[in-house]
Amino acid sequence: MRIAVLTETDPIEPRVAAVPETVKKFIGLGSEVVVQSGAGTKAGVPDSEYEAAGAKIAGSAEEALSGSDLVLKVRRPNADELAKIQKGAVVVAIMDPYGHEDALKAMAEAGVSGFAMELMPRITRAQVMDVLSSQANLAGYRAVVDGAAEYGRSLPMMMTAAGTVPAARIFIMGVGVAGLQAIATARRMGAVVTATDVRPATKEQVESLGAKFVAVEDDEFKQAETSGGYAKEMSAEYQKKQAELVKGHIAKQDIVITTALIPGRPAPKLVSEEMVASMKPGSVLVDLAVERGGNVAGAKAGEIVTVGNGVKIVGHVNVPGRLAATASSLYARNLFSFVETMIDKEAKALAVKWDDELVKATNLTRDGQVVHPNFQPKA
Ligand code: NAI
Repeated sequence: MRIAVLTETDPIEPRVAAVPETVKKFIGLGSEVVVQSGAGTKAGVPDSEYEAAGAKIAGSAEEALSGSDLVLKVRRPNADELAKIQKGAVVVAIMDPYGHEDALKAMAEAGVSGFAMELMPRITRAQVMDVLSSQANLAGYRAVVDGAAEYGRSLPMMMTAAGTVPAARIFIMGVGVAGLQAIATARRMGAVVTATDVRPATKEQVESLGAKFVAVEDDEFKQAETSGGYAKEMSAEYQKKQAELVKGHIAKQDIVITTALIPGRPAPKLVSEEMVASMKPGSVLVDLAVERGGNVAGAKAGEIVTVGNGVKIVGHVNVPGRLAATASSLYARNLFSFVETMIDKEAKALAVKWDDELVKATNLTRDGQVVHPNFQPKA
């Protein structure tokens, strides 16, 4: 069995899908691993480290893909890569499938079996394969670091001979995986932290991290969590009440970090232009939802926007990629844990268990067809 690890082609993607540790493990399972030269450069892994782990280095994507039955990537393969992947090969990546039905069709037509890591069910067995969690956790941490870097004052309270510096106030909106890590990070850095969410379960989580919970806790709030653990899209009425509540609160904050998402929907608009304008000059908003439409009015993907009143809105894209080395090693481990279930250790060959619930949940394309139920052409 031959596994190819490619260099990501999207200029905003510095991560890599395998690290020396996972290369060694794949070799231990009897496979041959071929890494495209330079694949790990932006994540701090030189070719020599892959070689030391037992991988072969290929001079091009074509060379890496030739004869490979399994392809590991961070992002969905593009048309050029698809043309070089052998028919029937398995490709595992973060496929970003929603709204990209044409790309899925192209993947099907190329004859590859594509698997989307982000569709992994959130069940106990699959926790080690959960890329949404591994990457969102890092994004939450990095959002606080990025916010602190743009903020012209200190986060912790400091008592110095020259006088006392107050602690910064940080408000986290959306307390999923990213938000919880943002709270923990902001607390560790000494800020006074408050947080909000629409799912009632988050209240206790926020308080257990030593932050204060701020939310409209009405009947709709009590039912805002889906059976899958995600948030529902809230009614216009709830959103109005929420806006009233957070309006006064935001005006007193130094840093606001927003992470709110609703699966398959645009990100909810939580911070209006008026709220941004109410903040003190020098305050910072970090919008982690910017790639999904943004939680903050005026946020721009890939930019740091300074608005009239001297408030900065940070809209970095691919925030986990801003910690490329750590994000790659966690992603690579998620990937190994999943791919390992597709390998027959006796025969040392790829043996996808098509009936396995993890395989069914993540498999997008097979035998020339888009097979995932969520992406069937509309009748
Ligand atoms: P997400 O990335 O979909 O959303 C982030 C947060 O935004 C969520 O907490 C959501 O409630 C919140 N949100 C949505 N609309 C909002 C609004 N209008 N105002 C304020 N907040 C809003 O969520 P993520 O991080 O993927 O977590 C979703 C759930 O999955 C959580 O319950 C988490 O604990 C659970 N989970 C379960 C795992 C497992 O293996 N069992 C692993 C990881 C997460």
